Amino acid sequence: MNNFTFWNPVRVHFGEGQVTRLSEEISKNQKVMLLYGGGSIKKNGVYDQVKAALTDYQVIEFGGIEPNPHYETLMKAVELGRKEKVDFLLAVGGGSVIDGTKFVSVAIPFTDDDPWKIVSEGAEIKGQPIPLGSVLTLPATGSEMNKASVITKAANKEKRGFMRPELFPQFAILDPTHTYSLPKEQIANGVVDAFVHTTEQYLTDSAEAPLQERYAESLLTTLIEEGPKAMALTTDYKTRANIMWCATQALCGLVGAGVPQDWATHMIGHEITAEFGLAHGTTLAIVLPSTLRVMKDQKRQKLLQYAERVWHIQSGSDDEKIEEAIDKTQSFFEAMGIKTHMKQYSIKEQDIDTMVERLESKGMVALGEQGNIDLATSRQIYQGCL
Ligand code: NZQ
Ligand code: ZN
Repeated sequence: MNNFTFWNPVRVHFGEGQVTRLSEEISKNQKVMLLYGGGSIKKNGVYDQVKAALTDYQVIEFGGIEPNPHYETLMKAVELGRKEKVDFLLAVGGGSVIDGTKFVSVAIPFTDDDPWKIVSEGAEIKGQPIPLGSVLTLPATGSEMNKASVITKAANKEKRGFMRPELFPQFAILDPTHTYSLPKEQIANGVVDAFVHTTEQYLTDSAEAPLQERYAESLLTTLIEEGPKAMALTTDYKTRANIMWCATQALCGLVGAGVPQDWATHMIGHEITAEFGLAHGTTLAIVLPSTLRVMKDQKRQKLLQYAERVWHIQSGSDDEKIEEAIDKTQSFFEAMGIKTHMKQYSIKEQDIDTMVERLESKGMVALGEQGNIDLATSRQIYQGCL
């Protein structure tokens, strides 16, 4: 096992009705900025619940954070937050709203220069970030309990992730009933995202960390069992609760502690979103099978373990077992209603050039757990996605 430092300060309030905890988490003398997305929280009652929990608080609002949140939109929230001198940021929504709020938190005090530099250049955080908390409505990214954020500069279609300890929310409210209103494609994208977060930290070269491996296998197995149920049943609390907790745990830092991590599928997928606007989970369903096929020699031992323990494939040669496991993974994504070929989204072979160029311009030239996925290999992975 590799050396690691694990620290996760996020307090999780899980279960129906936990939104009332907001009044314990935020002090009444803090001026709150409530940030949200395109309005789903106003239709499904979550906004009303949050407002009821914050009666007697001074609350200002910033709505309109789009999926794959834009720096340009978030800078408007930064201006408002500075003008109103807010003391606390409350993100109510999916990963995009939470990621966007994380950016706003560190951007508000970053007054001397363009806060995009925090994202693009790893500029040092200046001043005191505004504390934040989250009410999650879409189980997928794990953003509610991690220190990562992914922001897109719309002007040049530049999608970038950044990680800082300052980005941890103070708390996360996870009420499975808040996910009942999700459209099916968002449930599917969320399940796939959680699934691929797990594989990025598990389907690597050998780690000799049986606890983390079995933890990953539990998450994958649970998602395979619960995902299809959530697609079929609209308001089944047990299923939604299990998916929600899986998604949070898949990227809160535990599965990946002390083991090699890949993340090539994510980086390659981000360029599909940046260029063609596909939802994040959808890009992962397209890219993962191809990444596994292209990198199967390096990942051989883990893929075999995955085939046997997660998909219970016991017969055939090792190569056949690995192939079958990758096929079953792809079929699982398709059974969740996600098409797994770029051509099905009108993305053509000639579009690959643009995406490879974007990877190059961002310095994404040595991806994967061994840093050996160069641009030629990324191109090969895109080709396998067609
Ligand atoms: O904007 P609203 O109206 O709220 O609608 C959203 C949005 O249209 C809707 N939605 C959310 N909760 C809902 C709901 N609709 C009905 N009922 C509800 N309860 O769903 C749509 C998608 O929301 P979004 O937040 O964009 O989805 P997701 O949570 O999948 O977040 C995706 C973003 O997170 C980044 C992705 O790159 C992408 O930008 N990621 C962040 C990570 C992190 N911070 O650790 C890691 C991930 O790998 C990922 O890269
Ligand atoms: Zn993801």
